[in-house]
Amino acid sequence: MMVKNVWEPVGLGLALLLLTLETSVTGSASHSCYGTPGLPGTPGMPGKDGRDGMKGVKGEPGIPAIPGTRGPKGEEGDPGSPGLPGKTGPMGPPGTRGDPGDQGQPGGPGMPGNYKQKHQSAFSVARRTGQYPDKNAPVVFNHAITNLNQDYNITSGKFTCRVPGLYYFIFHTSQTANLCVNMYKNRQKVASFCDHMSNSKQVSSGGLLLRMDAGDQLWLAVNDYNGMVGIAGSDSVFSGFLLFPD
Ligand SMILES: *[C@@H]1O[C@H](CO)[C@@H](O)[C@H](O)[C@H]1NC(C)=O
Repeated sequence: MMVKNVWEPVGLGLALLLLTLETSVTGSASHSCYGTPGLPGTPGMPGKDGRDGMKGVKGEPGIPAIPGTRGPKGEEGDPGSPGLPGKTGPMGPPGTRGDPGDQGQPGGPGMPGNYKQKHQSAFSVARRTGQYPDKNAPVVFNHAITNLNQDYNITSGKFTCRVPGLYYFIFHTSQTANLCVNMYKNRQKVASFCDHMSNSKQVSSGGLLLRMDAGDQLWLAVNDYNGMVGIAGSDSVFSGFLLFPD
């Protein structure tokens, strides 16, 4: 409808113009007749599309993208298979020297010696500990200073006679409390030496000559007065020797 309204006056204008021209032409050729004006023509067809326009200018850069946030941690995977054993490392520095081991068991009896050796017996043993000895039991002198043929047993605390004869036994003991030293021969008390403390430390001693048969045993023991010690500067030693063989 709008197109029709636009073109209608134009078509009318054109028709009037053509009429005027024809009038002037015909007028010059013949001054006699005038036709009736024609009807306005129909509007022309719309024109073709125009050509493509020029390429547009480049646009502004866009807003930078926001990096994505890190997702939650996944579950721990299964452990991998163990690797191959590594190479042997370099040798380490030598360790510190260890403590000395426990004393070994006494050896067995030696080979038979000559007459002199066969008829010897002598020992000097020390009791090296700050602890008081057990009551009513053999006092164990646990360190041998001299011990021919191991006649004194440093584990049991007993001397066992191997060569019969007359023996002399003597002890020097240090004490820090009242002390009674009793000498036993085969479970029989043969001598008793008691010393009540009058200083902080003191030494008591006692000795005896005894006839011993082969297999007889002799030891020292304490009773309720057992204050014997063997500490630095306060030794406790027990000695015995064969004076005359039978
Ligand atoms: C010393 O006495 C211990 C304990 O009584 C005993 O086991 C050991 O056999 C004795 N040693 C010797 C050489 O007689």
